[in-house]
Amino acid sequence: MKKISGNPYLLRKNGKIFIDSIPLDDLLEKFETPFLLFLENRIRDNVKSFNDIFNEIFDNFHCYYSLKANYLLEICKIISSEGVGAKIVGLPELKLALRVGFSPEKIIIGGPYLPDALIDLSIKNKVKEIIVYNLNDLKKINLIAQKYNWVQNICIRVNSQKYNSNLGVNLSVRNIDLLKKSIDTCDNIKITSILSHFGTQMNNVDQFEKNTHSLVNSLKLLLKHGISIKNINLGGGFPEATVMPIARLKDIAEHVKTILDKAGISINSISIEPGRYFVGDSGMFVTKIVKVNEDRWIFLNIGNHICPKFARCSLRFYNASQINEPHKYKTSIAGIVPTDQDVLAKNYFFTQNLREQEFVLVTNTGAYCLTFSNRFPYPLPKIVLVKNESCISIFDASIDRDFSLI
Ligand SMILES: Cc1ncc(COP(=O)(O)O)c(C=O)c1O
Repeated sequence: MKKISGNPYLLRKNGKIFIDSIPLDDLLEKFETPFLLFLENRIRDNVKSFNDIFNEIFDNFHCYYSLKANYLLEICKIISSEGVGAKIVGLPELKLALRVGFSPEKIIIGGPYLPDALIDLSIKNKVKEIIVYNLNDLKKINLIAQKYNWVQNICIRVNSQKYNSNLGVNLSVRNIDLLKKSIDTCDNIKITSILSHFGTQMNNVDQFEKNTHSLVNSLKLLLKHGISIKNINLGGGFPEATVMPIARLKDIAEHVKTILDKAGISINSISIEPGRYFVGDSGMFVTKIVKVNEDRWIFLNIGNHICPKFARCSLRFYNASQINEPHKYKTSIAGIVPTDQDVLAKNYFFTQNLREQEFVLVTNTGAYCLTFSNRFPYPLPKIVLVKNESCISIFDASIDRDFSLI
């Protein structure tokens, strides 16, 4: 058995492809392409290995799944059942997380826009923390917390100082002053953590080091002004688990620990909010070649409407109909949205023979594809969840209409 796309649940045996324990041919008999499938066992493995590594290195580690990476109910249920918390950016996600069964003391909420209704429902449910990107939100949170006679824990998202980033609070003299005033005057909030998120698809240790240094510098600066914060949150940004070897993940955790130890600041807890790492390589599209051009361009029956560039997935393409043939001939792959911009990959190593109606697997599409998909007027693909020998349909547009949250 040989792994495809480095994925232990995607195997090649005697010229046949197995999705977990199911032959791909069986799935192709059941479902018309394009369809999106998810591997439950892979999600569970990813959550476990991530947590094992960070729990081994840190005494008090907390993990929150960033639901925006993939907010399908069934996927969230799997992740919740592994015992991690939830990181939420908006009201529809909060309602979903509560429905799925994430316990409120394991839910953290935050984003650049915190409408009153979101703050209200968060406080009503006594969520663990609200993350603010803008210090002006503190007053609003304090007022709502007062109404519920509750002291709300707050995490401040600081600007990671990454070039050109506008997200998070810049710890300028004016802002530190504003923070101090808020602490003095708002009795129903308590500043408990700071968060810095550096970017997405960060595949080297260096980026995580920079982010940790940014947090350490922020903690020191705040301490100089009499504000002591004991909990840090590193955000997310890890690539798909098949793209980042376990050894590198461990290396990152160790480097972060060393930086924190050397900085000489005492920290009570460290949190991380992975999205892509948990679900990215659990998802793949099963597609078909609908057109072959003479100049080695092929067109698949998916496109940027459902597999968007904005999702920044590490896409891999396999000719499932010729899986034993070498994939070493440069081929460009386009989607079916009628614009020349719908290019999925240029000069990608693929099979020599290119034939219409052949099946193509597009891997690493489990994170952000649905989130950033758009309403281009093509039908939505069926979505299938595979575990061992069983497969269930978890989304069918003819019944479920849409997967958007309301
Ligand atoms: C603050 C924060 N945390 C976590 C994440 C999740 O990132 P990823 O899916 O890359 O792990 C994001 C993504 O943008 C984010 O902005």
